[in-house]
Amino acid sequence: MVKRKLRDARVLVTGASSGIGRALVCELGRRGARILMTARREERLQHLQQDLAKSQIKTHYVAGDITDKGLRQSLLVAAVECFGGIDILVNNAGVGAVGKFIESDEARLREIMEVNFFSPVELVRVALPILQKGINPMIVNVGSVLGHRAIPQKSEYCCAKFALHGFSDAIRAELVASKVDVLLVSPSTTRSDFFRSLLAGRQEPQGAVVSRGMPSEVVARLTANAMAAGRHEVILTSGGKLLVWLDRLCPPIMDRVVSQWGH
Ligand SMILES: NC(=O)c1ccc[n+]([C@@H]2O[C@H](COP(=O)([O-])OP(=O)(O)OC[C@H]3O[C@@H](n4cnc5c(N)ncnc54)[C@H](OP(=O)(O)O)[C@@H]3O)[C@@H](O)[C@H]2O)c1
Repeated sequence: MVKRKLRDARVLVTGASSGIGRALVCELGRRGARILMTARREERLQHLQQDLAKSQIKTHYVAGDITDKGLRQSLLVAAVECFGGIDILVNNAGVGAVGKFIESDEARLREIMEVNFFSPVELVRVALPILQKGINPMIVNVGSVLGHRAIPQKSEYCCAKFALHGFSDAIRAELVASKVDVLLVSPSTTRSDFFRSLLAGRQEPQGAVVSRGMPSEVVARLTANAMAAGRHEVILTSGGKLLVWLDRLCPPIMDRVVSQWGH
């Protein structure tokens, strides 16, 4: 566990156009980090860059789809061009779906796994040679409480977040010798665009106020605190901690409890 200064850290943040990623760019920018951000919606990245420039926070962006191998490679090229390397990679981009597995299909499962699991893992693969030369390097994977305890109606999303959890644990142990830290952040329900961008299920209408859950800004502050403290795993809410604790203590009871959800 290495405490690190975020001032001047060179950070790559995925999924920066809304919600947690956007809030994290603002939080890290305020703390003096140098940021390269990415997402598909370029106009949002441009506006965020302009907003932050008003507070003398300089950012860079490369727009594109994180599932595109070419985009992942150009992110690293841009990081080297802008900063000479990176110290922190934040894998935050994600998407979900709600609905019964039996009513779902292979395309949905594959898309969720591509965005939430294969893309961050493959971004780690291309970033590692550069990260290993960074200062107090760190990989931050934004998982979910649902990567600790699965629930019905979100089978694909739970699979992806469990996989990201497993990858984080494995790579953390593997990278001890090369001194690259790995932090798994597990938010609970968060106020963001997430429930407006679902691939399936009842979507919140665009423009609707998402009032459930922790504000993205609080998730971002707690995440930045965990990064600075060199934490390896952080579950952000007491409800999330209780869910995980009860599940470890007595899985059959939790199986019965969660089987009632979503009906
Ligand atoms: N909201 C919650 O309740 C909650 C709870 C636990 C964990 N999380 C996790 O937190 C992370 C951030 O989610 P959020 O709540 O902030 O949701 P959000 O507001 O919908 O943000 C998702 C971000 O991911 C980007 N993204 C999605 N698909 C992409 C793709 N194919 N290529 C590139 N970027 C893509 C989106 O940008 P573009 O659409 O512009 O590409 C957006 O910037 C996700 O990993 C999510 O699983 C969320």
